[in-house]
Amino acid sequence: MLDFLGDWKRSDHCGSLRAADLERLVTVMGWVQSKRDHGGVIFIDLRDREGIVQIVLNPEHEKAAWEIAEQIKDEWVIAVKGKVRNRPEETLNPNIDTGEIEVFADEVRVLNTSKVLPFLIENEINVDELLRLKYRFLDLRRPVMKENLLLRHGVVTAARSFLNTEGFIEIETPFLTKSTPEGARDFLVPSRLSPGAFYALPQSPQLLKQTLMISGFDRYYQIAKCFRDEDLRADRQPEFTQIDFEMSFVSEDDVIETVEGMLSTIFKKARGLDIPVPFPRMSYEEAMLRYGTDSPDTRFGLELEDISEAFMKSEFKVFSGAIKRGGIIKALNAKGKAPELSRKEIDDLTEYAQSLGAKGLAWIRVQGAEWQSPITKFLSESETKSMKATLNMEDGDIVFFAADEPAVVNSVLSSIRLRLGKRFGMIDTGGFEFLWVVDFPLLEFDSTEHRYTSIHHPFTSPKEEHIDLLETEPLKVLSRAYDVIINGVEIGGGSIRIHRSDIQQKMFKALGLDEEEVTEKFGFLLTALDYGAPPHGGIALGLDRLVTLLAGSPSIRDVIAFPKTQKGSCPYTEAPSAVELSQLLELSIKVDKKEEKKESA
Ligand code: AMO
Ligand code: AMP
Repeated sequence: MLDFLGDWKRSDHCGSLRAADLERLVTVMGWVQSKRDHGGVIFIDLRDREGIVQIVLNPEHEKAAWEIAEQIKDEWVIAVKGKVRNRPEETLNPNIDTGEIEVFADEVRVLNTSKVLPFLIENEINVDELLRLKYRFLDLRRPVMKENLLLRHGVVTAARSFLNTEGFIEIETPFLTKSTPEGARDFLVPSRLSPGAFYALPQSPQLLKQTLMISGFDRYYQIAKCFRDEDLRADRQPEFTQIDFEMSFVSEDDVIETVEGMLSTIFKKARGLDIPVPFPRMSYEEAMLRYGTDSPDTRFGLELEDISEAFMKSEFKVFSGAIKRGGIIKALNAKGKAPELSRKEIDDLTEYAQSLGAKGLAWIRVQGAEWQSPITKFLSESETKSMKATLNMEDGDIVFFAADEPAVVNSVLSSIRLRLGKRFGMIDTGGFEFLWVVDFPLLEFDSTEHRYTSIHHPFTSPKEEHIDLLETEPLKVLSRAYDVIINGVEIGGGSIRIHRSDIQQKMFKALGLDEEEVTEKFGFLLTALDYGAPPHGGIALGLDRLVTLLAGSPSIRDVIAFPKTQKGSCPYTEAPSAVELSQLLELSIKVDKKEEKKESA
């Protein structure tokens, strides 16, 4: 029964046929979405990339075609010749674009069969993601996945077209390169020709795009693959894609305006949305104070308040003790929400806070004149009064508190804030809120490594007026970096760069790198900076994250054709995999095998 295409040529896509095609003889090809046998007459929903069309086979019309159709099963690949005709009134289907018509089949060819499917080709399926990834070719047949990849294509097309119009030149940079520190572990590739030496896959094209500015290309862009061997989360993949660009002779506003223009074009073309520009800007300091994070979700309030001041000398040791150890106390007031939260939910929140590293999560529930709480008994009258005023505590409110070192308080309360925002339905999930976070500190202190590290990367310029502080008070130096945040997701980050080698060397010194290390790792950059490097800056947007947001998808994996699992593997190809001993010998590599861990997506 299996046939080849032979001289058959597809005339139309299944999903493109309309009433305007009535009476035309067409040849369509695709997959059998479903088949219904209505007492003799057979109906097949035939699917291709463009959609579904109904095929009708009547034994009284063409017996041979009908006999073939009798054998056909779901997901077989068939070709059909027939005439487009109107559907009878009672079978009109307004839910699909081809719902007014059907193809009355004269001839059918079976081009391929299919095994019974592990899951159905439809949007709502309830199967383990690992199974979907193992059978990714089937998963990608589901309309929702197809839409995601089409959306991604639309976003890339819009970005390219915008950047081309703005005078940017697309230039590729190598995958086999030298490590650029973006804060993650490198993926290494052994060199056969230099035994014992390794290429690093790029964590980003950072240093090479800067080099292109030094070469005079003025404006560069690339839809760039980046590789980072780090622990994966819902919004992280070990290989991901950036819309990466760099510009010469610019300052912050030039890059920021270019991104705003590009995102406007993307949102318009991909979603038909007009987004308001310019986006608001907020300093890092303000973002940390009000939201406890440098990527705040500004779609809702529920902001944090620092109440440390009033509890310096408190009898409540949880509070005063934290301050003595250099910590802070912050609170968030869920106004009027006390009646909605059960005691069990409050306990769950406390457990959640502890899982994030908090020692506890104090709370006060205001009920009339009474405060229900495990901590009120420890508070003095003046403390209660000051708290009530600062936090505007009224009947029906519930307030949560964290006391600890600032990093713990902020990270715990920012997560609690998000969880409460979702719990109380405070987040408008249909909308988009854009924000620039600016005025980041240049450095932070890494207490495990006992040295300063860059908050962005070591090529980010300090503010000119702070350069001298690099040697005296490094933590006070602000950088010329900017992050663009949409709905609380860091979509992109960039900066004006250091374009002088003397300042770059100062920076390396502040990071505790000795001269030998600098020469070995970054000698090439310092050399290039010495030959007329122009002032320059740029940014990279995370394409996968942007498309995830635009698609309203729960996971970054749903907008990537072949993503990796949490363990960094591909269940379809089964990469990574063992290699032949001969390959290892050629690369001068000896492998020490470790036990396998169990896998989940
Ligand atoms: P950065 O490291 O901030 O900057 O990366 C830019 C953007 O890339 C996205 N991103 C990721 N997306 C998915 N999975 C990951 N593992 C991942 N890591 C980052 C984020 C992020 O905002 N060279 C600099 C850019 C520059 O300075 O021009 C850089 O790579 O959305
Ligand atoms: P305890 O005296 O340890 O039982 O704590 C009293 C209340 O304070 C409990 O509700 C704890 O969850 C809370 N708590 C304990 N440590 C902290 C902390 N570091 N920050 C905020 N609340 C805390």
